Amino acid sequence: MSVPFADLQLQYQNIKSEIDEAIAAVIRGNAFIRGPYVDAFERDFANVASVKHCVSCANGTDALYLAMAALKVKPGDEVITSAHSWISTSAMITHAGATVKFCDTDGATFTIDPAGIEAAITSRTVGIIPVHLYGQPADMDAIMAIAKKRGLWVIEDCAQAHLARYKGQMVGTFGAAATYSFYPGKNLGAMGDAGAVVTNDAALADHMTMLARHGGLVKHQHNIEGINSRLDGMQAAILSAKLPHLSYWTKARQSAAIFYDHGLNQIEDLVVPQAAPDREHVYHLYTIRHPRRDALAAHLNANGIQTAVNYPTALPLLPAYKRFDHSAMQFPNACHDQDSILSLPMYAEITKEQQDMVIDCIRSF
Ligand SMILES: Cc1ncc(COP(=O)(O)O)c(C=O)c1O
Repeated sequence: MSVPFADLQLQYQNIKSEIDEAIAAVIRGNAFIRGPYVDAFERDFANVASVKHCVSCANGTDALYLAMAALKVKPGDEVITSAHSWISTSAMITHAGATVKFCDTDGATFTIDPAGIEAAITSRTVGIIPVHLYGQPADMDAIMAIAKKRGLWVIEDCAQAHLARYKGQMVGTFGAAATYSFYPGKNLGAMGDAGAVVTNDAALADHMTMLARHGGLVKHQHNIEGINSRLDGMQAAILSAKLPHLSYWTKARQSAAIFYDHGLNQIEDLVVPQAAPDREHVYHLYTIRHPRRDALAAHLNANGIQTAVNYPTALPLLPAYKRFDHSAMQFPNACHDQDSILSLPMYAEITKEQQDMVIDCIRSF
């Protein structure tokens, strides 16, 4: 037996008739770009995400760009984000025209440290992008309090955190806007690239929609210069077919996380994911810390168990940010984590036998 990191084929087989019918309907209706399936998904996802407006787009990276462009980010502005994320979060700050200011994580949850945000604020700071990394909400009360006090906007990066909650409130409902990715491996994943930006602000939603659709809401009326960032009909129909399963899949991930926790939390040197009180973690990734991470990963891989490192280098230390000349000492938690983190197989369909195999293999190490 081997244990894959994720198993999209198994997910498809379990709901094959629903997916096949969704794809066939789009082809029958020639509904490839915009059209009823995109409208329906935007409505349904807004509902599930507890927001008034969902603007679908081509991917979660574009979603970040659209939100910042609509918030009128301009050269000279500074935007604070976490030193530990996927590069989309920081790269889009640059592409929107602002300067990235990295902030360390809190050392426990892999999310941005509110105390570090306070310290990073200057007269040029316009906004904060917390990332609900691996599926755990960032400390939104503390972050929103800082934003309010300093007059900053907040965009939540929810790419890994569909349906996660902070003190009972859905992520993506705290800030001015929130961005989602539906990359195939995400908790809600399309069969290609897909994304969305959500908000409760109707004017912001209209502006983001215009930006994503060549600058206009009506064909040939280009009010501004936009981009082409569309969710295609096929992906929308696939996402709508999967959406009713999301809640069950999330619970299955949470149960699998509890099973791992029980099997792994007595092992010396190994730290299981730390879910802070009042934060509902949706376990997009189940990421442990271990001082001999590379050797442990090699041992697991040699025994047929796939693992991943999300991500091997803290953002400030990537070649892409050489211009800032950052050192690891500025981001001790993020940089220390990057050497010890290891993501274990995690998906809704993972069996207890597979998890036992992972646990036994780690114990034998
Ligand atoms: C935290 C985070 N932000 C943004 C993105 C970008 O999403 P996409 O891959 O859909 O562009 C991802 C996806 O990998 C992500 O994990």
